[in-house]
Amino acid sequence: MDIPRIFNITESAHRIHNPFTPEKFATLGAVLRLKSGTRILDLGSGSGEMLCTWARDYEITGVGIDMSQLFSEQATLRAKELGVADRVKFIHGDATGYVADEKVDVAACVGATWIGGGVVGTIELLAKSISPEGMMLIGEPYWRQLPPTEEVAKGCFAGSVSDFLMLPELLASFSELGYDVVEMVLADQEGWDRYEAAKWLTMKQWLKANPDDDFAKEVRANLTSEPKRYAQYTREYLGWGVFALMAR
Ligand SMILES: C[S@@+](CC[C@H](N)C(=O)[O-])C[C@H]1O[C@@H](n2cnc3c(N)ncnc32)[C@H](O)[C@@H]1O
Repeated sequence: MDIPRIFNITESAHRIHNPFTPEKFATLGAVLRLKSGTRILDLGSGSGEMLCTWARDYEITGVGIDMSQLFSEQATLRAKELGVADRVKFIHGDATGYVADEKVDVAACVGATWIGGGVVGTIELLAKSISPEGMMLIGEPYWRQLPPTEEVAKGCFAGSVSDFLMLPELLASFSELGYDVVEMVLADQEGWDRYEAAKWLTMKQWLKANPDDDFAKEVRANLTSEPKRYAQYTREYLGWGVFALMAR
């Protein structure tokens, strides 16, 4: 069981697999006023940077589940590196339908809402794991500018313009589901550059090390086309943020 290989190649050097910088995760941890012992579940935990740094900085405890074997291994190594391996645990697995055995204070899905079949399904899934006063964290894209055509939306790797909402509508959609938005931290273009542009050097180095790999042609094509596609579409049109929700 694993995610498509292209992600394990292009994001192999990433600690954070979304447009957040370490500073943005630090801001998010600070604004959530996390207390020592806060229990967190993270579906699609990637290389574990959020849980590991919050375990170091706020003494939270947590469990992360991720379908990438590589990212899960990196998360476990990072926990050891930061001296928090006794506080956070990472499971390599499919988080689809995952519900915690014991209720947690914070349930998160930061950039992987397809796990619940979309935002609504992910909120329903996370709700099964949190205590009545608990909080949810949803990391999700939104349109900074509405794409003028479907072609532009596809250039952002969206299936269609209707895949994402503008920020006011996204916030209103949480409210319509019965949740108060109690905090949000938004990515910026610098964060997008760190997420996307960091893949390019990784691809370049991977190609040098693996010229005869079956995948080299795909990685080569990706490295050639990605900088322009990213600058033309994603960087201009797509926003991303983490939204903290509590039931009304
Ligand atoms: C955009 S990344 C976000 C990772 C992490 N939350 C972070 O902020 O760095 C999406 C993550 O979801 C994971 N993923 C994809 N499908 C999954 C599934 N069905 N179950 C668990 N993890 C999944 C990927 O391996 C990847 O790490």
